[in-house]
Amino acid sequence: MNNQITRRNLLKLLGVSGVTLPLTGISKDLEINSKTLNQENNVIKLSSNENPYGPSPKVRKAIIDAFDEACRYPYNRVTELEKKIAEREGVDPSMVLVTGGSNEGLRATGRLFGIEKKEIIACKPTYLALMTYAEEFDCKINWVPLDDNLRYDLNEISRRTSNNTSMVFICNPNNPTGTMLKADDLEDFCTATAKKTCVFVDEAYYDYSINDEYPTMTKLVKEGHNVIVSRTFSKIYGLAGVRIGYLIASSERIDELKKCTMAGTNMLATHAAMSAYDEKSFFEYSLNKNKEALEIFYDVFDELKLNYVKSYTNFAFFKTGVHIDEFSKHFKDKGILVGRPFPPYYDWCRISTGKIEDVERFAEVLRKYYS
Ligand SMILES: Cc1ncc(COP(=O)(O)O)c(C=O)c1O
Repeated sequence: MNNQITRRNLLKLLGVSGVTLPLTGISKDLEINSKTLNQENNVIKLSSNENPYGPSPKVRKAIIDAFDEACRYPYNRVTELEKKIAEREGVDPSMVLVTGGSNEGLRATGRLFGIEKKEIIACKPTYLALMTYAEEFDCKINWVPLDDNLRYDLNEISRRTSNNTSMVFICNPNNPTGTMLKADDLEDFCTATAKKTCVFVDEAYYDYSINDEYPTMTKLVKEGHNVIVSRTFSKIYGLAGVRIGYLIASSERIDELKKCTMAGTNMLATHAAMSAYDEKSFFEYSLNKNKEALEIFYDVFDELKLNYVKSYTNFAFFKTGVHIDEFSKHFKDKGILVGRPFPPYYDWCRISTGKIEDVERFAEVLRKYYS
């Protein structure tokens, strides 16, 4: 009985009071609850590539139940999750490191390689966390422009790789462009480059493109190449706010990286991730909603004849033809947050998929903007 009262209070604390907490399926009640959050803030947030449908009802329950263990350090549960991930990926558990969001993994790597004070090669624009952290240790970044298709320019990276390269960073699919490299091209590139230096492949959006023959580089980690892969529970699993992700690399590399981590993850996030990892229905639901939202974006871009690239993620990148500062201010005034500037693409905008009604509202404001 005591236990039940505590849980009811926790439901209140977590903002799900007044609704019957559904344990299976996707609840309309919970969707309405997240929408209320938007309305309270008076803003539609399409700026950070989050999944507004998460966490699923089952994962919410797992988080609430995890409070029973919140007085304990999470180490044993983290080990359990690492085993689970390792089993699915077909690697040894010593090759997986769970981190506080994949950002912690990116920063730990930035620290490990940045301190060598050589250079890291990456394309621009891309997801910056690893490079920004490496720069704190006086590491130079050799920035390569994207190719004409807004993809990572693998040929130019190869050309620039030298004895002075401590690491090559690849984001695939790339944030903010949403573009994906061809499987064979990336595999050949990584195999060849990893003979000379370490290759880091950020696979944060992996789950959105698994049906498109996504070229995960975990295959190369398994074959013993000098490659590190990062993944996250922040995107399709809808857990951006609880901070949990992971790295896959050789056991030796994982040991080195572990020493560079700081906070790690926590008990609630670990339980959330374990529950989310097993739940196929929410995964499929999120995938379908994301597809639906991207179609709405593509339709309005086509209608308005705006240039864009096909996305393999939960956001789209399109050419506005006006400076992003002016464009985002207009949308902010209308209650919609869009992505930040991504130099040198100042007249492009990254827009995240949100709930269908929010994406439709964005399309409506976009039509008016160009009318
Ligand atoms: C490419 C990429 N990598 C990593 C991250 C970090 O995600 P998290 O720290 O939430 O796992 C993001 C977040 O948007 C991203 O876009």
